[in-house]
Amino acid sequence: MSKLSLAVDVAGLRMRNPVMNAAGVLGMSPPILKRVYDSGAGAVVTKSVGPAPRTGHGNPTLVQLSCGALNAMGLPNPGADYYADEIRKLKRMGVPTVASFFGGSVQEFAEVARKLTGAGADALELNASCPNVAEELGMLASDACNVEKVTAAVKDETDLPVFVKLSPNVTDIKAVARAAEQGGADAITAANTLLGIAIDVGFRRPVLTNVTGGLSGPAAKPVALRCVWEVSQAVEVPVIGCGGVATWEDAVEYLLAGASAVQVGTAVTAHGFKVFGDIAEGLERYMAENGFTRVEEVVGLAHEAGRDQKSKADKCSIRV
Ligand code: SIN
Repeated sequence: MSKLSLAVDVAGLRMRNPVMNAAGVLGMSPPILKRVYDSGAGAVVTKSVGPAPRTGHGNPTLVQLSCGALNAMGLPNPGADYYADEIRKLKRMGVPTVASFFGGSVQEFAEVARKLTGAGADALELNASCPNVAEELGMLASDACNVEKVTAAVKDETDLPVFVKLSPNVTDIKAVARAAEQGGADAITAANTLLGIAIDVGFRRPVLTNVTGGLSGPAAKPVALRCVWEVSQAVEVPVIGCGGVATWEDAVEYLLAGASAVQVGTAVTAHGFKVFGDIAEGLERYMAENGFTRVEEVVGLAHEAGRDQKSKADKCSIRV
């Protein structure tokens, strides 16, 4: 009988287990990301890096809510030239690193991808979905044609696996995922945050300087899980689940919905760094108790039952 292993290969990125941090949550300093890895993650994801240093929005940029968090950082980052050195440091520490990045135009996306590839990242995550900035391309993930164009331009600049991170704030995420795949995406990350707003009743004004922000945490999970479900049916490439993962049960739900790996974001604030190891250990126990030896055996398992349930529901639905 083969031995149980949590190791996965997601589009060429080999990880000791399928648990990563979500881009942005823990910033981008190499010692912090090394701590994520030492706490049990299979790989780390940097905050998104752009072509030039950027301060982002003024405070307040984050609101804690009972159901999660709302953020509008505005993509603050030190720029790709500076951050390339930080990636080299992470690599010297032996940390499998996914470099998240963005640009304001097709050329900028391609240029940043080239720099981060040169720095030795193991994979790139193309952030097509930040809801908090107004770039030349707008919110890239809302335009399938632009997603295809940008992904293809990035793929021309790198041999690394490219994960394209999509937005749940679109009518049809399947069409955008197909466009990314058509452009050469090696995997799809689903999904970024949900557009939301919080209002201060005392001051009678929006809390965030940017007015709107991205909702993450428990409230985002059912939406992101639905995105993973739909995207995994629409494309052949692997899907990475992101949105409200806090426990091993959440991670298993994402695998069953079709994700090959998961990213943990807001939960780090509530549970601390140990959340990565806890999720990996819980997943291992679940696999042992249910007779699975490889993570891939769990991926997408809920779809067959979902198809049966759906066709029964369709037959029973009342028509007038
Ligand atoms: C931000 O920096 O405003 C958030 C980044 C993102 O959601 O992609």
